[in-house]
Amino acid sequence: MKIAFGSDHAGYEDPPPYYKPDLVDFIEAHGHQVLDCGTTGPEAVDYPDFANAVCLQILAGEAERGVLLCGTGIGVAMSANRHKKIRAAVCTSVQMARLSREHNDANVLCIGRRVLSLDECHAIILAWLEEPASTKERHKRRVSKMG
Ligand code: RB5
Repeated sequence: MKIAFGSDHAGYEDPPPYYKPDLVDFIEAHGHQVLDCGTTGPEAVDYPDFANAVCLQILAGEAERGVLLCGTGIGVAMSANRHKKIRAAVCTSVQMARLSREHNDANVLCIGRRVLSLDECHAIILAWLEEPASTKERHKRRVSKMG
């Protein structure tokens, strides 16, 4: 799958290992192609810029889904959900990741550097990438009502 990945400076927050490069490598190591939407270092930036960049790649058909990282996942999710057809989910557990796909057909995963360990991020990302959206009529109907 082609995944657009974006992060603000939280992805390069001390102490290392830095989350952003680690998670990009992790996704690629699992056979996906990553479209890197930045940022590229610890200099403070504005998270909506990176959320918007990821969403635009998805809406243009350049990426199938997106992963966004900030301090909590909240700011990037709020930004991403301003875009019609983007369904961004903040996930802090594997169960949330699976359900955000199964019930909500989330096309953007939002995670937080300051609230999750790297191991937790790995497990959440893997679950989210693997889980299909439900084909049940009730779930499809609810998702379609989001517009
Ligand atoms: C940046 O310091 C921080 O505010 C940002 O990464 C994010 O947590 C916002 O939601």
